[in-house]
Amino acid sequence: MSTTTYTASDRPSTFRSPMRAQPLTCNIGAELFGVDLGEVSRDDALFAELKSLLLKYKVLFLRDQDMSQAQHVALAERFGPLEDHPRLGSDPEYPGLVRIYKDLDSAPEHFENAFHCDGTWRETPPMGAILRCVEAPPIGGDTIWVNMAAAYANLPQKVKDQIDGLRARHSIEATFGARLPIQDRHALKETYPDAEHPVVRTHPETGEKVLFVNSFTTHFVNYHTDENVRHGIDFAPGASNLLNHLISQASIPDYQVRWRWSENSVAIWDNRSTQHYAVQDYWPAVRKMERAGIIGDRPF
Ligand code: SIN
Repeated sequence: MSTTTYTASDRPSTFRSPMRAQPLTCNIGAELFGVDLGEVSRDDALFAELKSLLLKYKVLFLRDQDMSQAQHVALAERFGPLEDHPRLGSDPEYPGLVRIYKDLDSAPEHFENAFHCDGTWRETPPMGAILRCVEAPPIGGDTIWVNMAAAYANLPQKVKDQIDGLRARHSIEATFGARLPIQDRHALKETYPDAEHPVVRTHPETGEKVLFVNSFTTHFVNYHTDENVRHGIDFAPGASNLLNHLISQASIPDYQVRWRWSENSVAIWDNRSTQHYAVQDYWPAVRKMERAGIIGDRPF
């Protein structure tokens, strides 16, 4: 594997920095070297360089970033305002810095374990996130990211034609809400009603088409038409088979990169074109992560 694909000559001519990107797979992810994220949070040119690498590789990884929570938040706010999460608590001093702390008090069944794109149950899901490892388990607890633009590009043309124009419902009620007592679940849904998104979205900055269904997606909302159903009663199996097939594309290793965490390592991802999966193999070891999620646009 080459050590650098992004060279000084690719960068805007107004600056030169020691930032170096080493791709980790052919389809997604690069590890960055020669970067201090605290500095990037204060420097326009370095931030522009980081952002262009993010659009290129979709997820960037860095090690040994001993940054403060204030620096973490400041870097994320360069991309845009942050948002809290209704079911995962934030740091009291830094609302928007979501604590994903898994320790002995967390029952193993509450660990995260599904491919997903963050917050697609919102009308405007996050554009991206910056995740820092506060405490890593001695072994396990990796995170996998998936390039969903590659997943779309590799679908057979017949499937692309079939899903063109389809829209789907995404639900926090059916996912984070499922374990709640019924009244709390309904209250959650009232605050965060299901969102509807295109099954194939267009990335607002790169123009790529992205397969945009994940484990928050419950069903298609406009599948039940004369082209797809005979008598109006056979829509459900056909639609769910197709939806499950599309959701399963994230499991294909060719589109994935897997990152081994250590304390102070950081991942920055574009949530518009990727999904991720936090591997749940380390309990009862402790894993503590802090995530700054950045508000995004309405998918189109
Ligand atoms: C997330 O799902 O945003 C967190 C992923 C992780 O904890 O590795």
